[in-house]
This record gives sequence, structure tokens and C-alpha cells, in this order.
Amino acid sequence: MKRARAAAPGKIILFGEHAVVHGQPAVAVPLFAVQATATAEPAAPGSGLTVYAPDISQTLHAGTAASDDPYYDALIYPLDVALDALHLPAPDLTLTVHSTIPVASGLGSGAALAAALMRVLSQAYERPLTNDALNPLVYEVEKHHHGTPSGIDNTVIVYEQPVFFMRGHSPKAFTIARPFTLLVADTGHPSPTHIAVSEVRRLYESGPHRIAAVFTRIGEIAQAARQSIESGRIEALGPLMDENHALLRQLTVSSEALDRLCQAARDAGAAGAKLSGGGRGGNMIAWVDPDQAQVVADALRRAGAVRVIQTTVRQGG
Ligand code: MEV
Repeated sequence: MKRARAAAPGKIILFGEHAVVHGQPAVAVPLFAVQATATAEPAAPGSGLTVYAPDISQTLHAGTAASDDPYYDALIYPLDVALDALHLPAPDLTLTVHSTIPVASGLGSGAALAAALMRVLSQAYERPLTNDALNPLVYEVEKHHHGTPSGIDNTVIVYEQPVFFMRGHSPKAFTIARPFTLLVADTGHPSPTHIAVSEVRRLYESGPHRIAAVFTRIGEIAQAARQSIESGRIEALGPLMDENHALLRQLTVSSEALDRLCQAARDAGAAGAKLSGGGRGGNMIAWVDPDQAQVVADALRRAGAVRVIQTTVRQGG
């Protein structure tokens, strides 16, 4: 067993959340401004596998942590999945985790934490997992958390690349011809993804024709956005974001706070704005000219955002 350190970034869904669960394409990019990190330290023989999360004052022991412990799914389940896949017993190891990714906020905190934990465990064992091997394991954890995840979150977080994703197809990397600036603003209202996903499913079941048309249009927007990003016609992204947000409202996954932040961003000069991720709370994104970023960020804070991150989306992060 050796010392190791691993990390995984957050993610932003640019276009296509929710519709992607129902077979439409979506576009996502890693968000390096936030990340989950894990370190591994060999521990005394017989002490077993311990996960220490100082940010939330939690210490859990694999093997003895109860599966109904509120932190079991986030901190222990990923390790169980990785050990099972590698056919290895729990080692004598202490893992310490930190995360700057807000929980239940649409930025991929669960997938990033799972990726960092699995990476550090496999490195400490000197059996490092390739990204191709890690991705389905993080997807297993996502299924445990979310029931019916599309797989987009684990894919963008594990490969740390912009991705054009369609369920059941291998993910396609795509080129970002011209960098562009986004603001990512947090409503401060956590909202578990699985609840929004299951309510969209219920909505679909209660009116399949109407909701299928919304999914289809969101898929067309994701396709158009990919073409705009690849050809450098990034001005087209603003209106596409606004339309995607309006469609997400029809899916009932926006909220008063998300709508308020989107409107504040547009009023302050953003070219487009939408919620990002599961919705009902969590984060929104606004497409801004870099010269306008400060003005829009200030407007977002005045409108109630608890945190605003400015990020440049470019090839290779
Ligand atoms: C969550 O980040 C994105 C959703 O589309 C769910 C999923 O794709 O699994 C809402």
C-alpha cells in the first residue's frame, strides 16, 4: 500500500439536462474551479479502511459503517464498488476527502467524490484504474444515488473533457473553436437530482406527447449548440440557452430563485442564461462577454446568488 492523491472536477451541463435521461443529446464541460480531492495514507495493520471527511466532521469505517448512515452512499459505497471490481479486500488505509463542490447543486458533487475516492484507492493499491475502467464504476455509484442517471455526469467528470453525450452511445469529445466565458451562480438551495428526475418522468407519463415534444426540442438545441461551439459561432449560444431554460421551466424543474437569477443576468447584459443540472435549486449559468462579467456577477449577487464562479470554457480546460 502506498501514499496517493487524486482529484476530480465538477461539471456544468451547458445544454440538454433532463431530456438526456430520455434519449436526447446533451452537452457538458468539466468545471475545474471546484473539485473533490482524496489522499491515501497507509494505516496500521488490522486497522482497516477509514474515510475521514474533515469538512463535514465525519469518520466512517468500511465494513462497519451502516448502509443507512447518511454518509455511507457518498463515502463508503464508491469504495465497495471499486474493491469489488478489482477483486481486492479492504486495505489498511486512511483516506481523507475534501470537496469544494456544493452538494445537490447540479455541479456533479457525488460523481466527483466517487471518482476521487476510487482513483485514490486504486492508486494506493498500485492497481490504478484507467478512465475507461473507472467511468462505468462511477456510473454504478450514480445509479445508486439517482436511480436512472443518463451517465453524462460521470462521463464528463472522469474524462475531464467537453462531451457531447447521448445515452447508450459512446460519448463524443468535441472541439471548442473559440473559448467563451460563463458565470456559474448558486441559488444556495440544494435540490437532490433524483427527485427532479423522477418528477420529470411522472410528468412525461401523464402527458407523453407534449413532454416528448419538449425533450425533442431540447435535443435539437443541444445539437445546434454543439455545431455553434465547434464552428466558433458562439454568439448563437445565448438565445439557445434562453430557449433551453424556457423548456426546462415547462418540465417544472426551474424555481423562483433560478428564474430570478437568469433574469437578473440577462438584464445586466448576459447574452443568455439557464439553469444547469437537475434544477429546482442548485446552479444556473450565464453566457457573458468577458468585459461584462463583473457587472453581471454583481447583479447575480444582488439578486441572491450565494456564490458566483467565472469560468472560461476552452479546449483542454
Ligand atoms: C444532472 O446533472 C443531469 C440530469 O440530466 C440527470 C442525468 O442526466 O442523469 C438532470
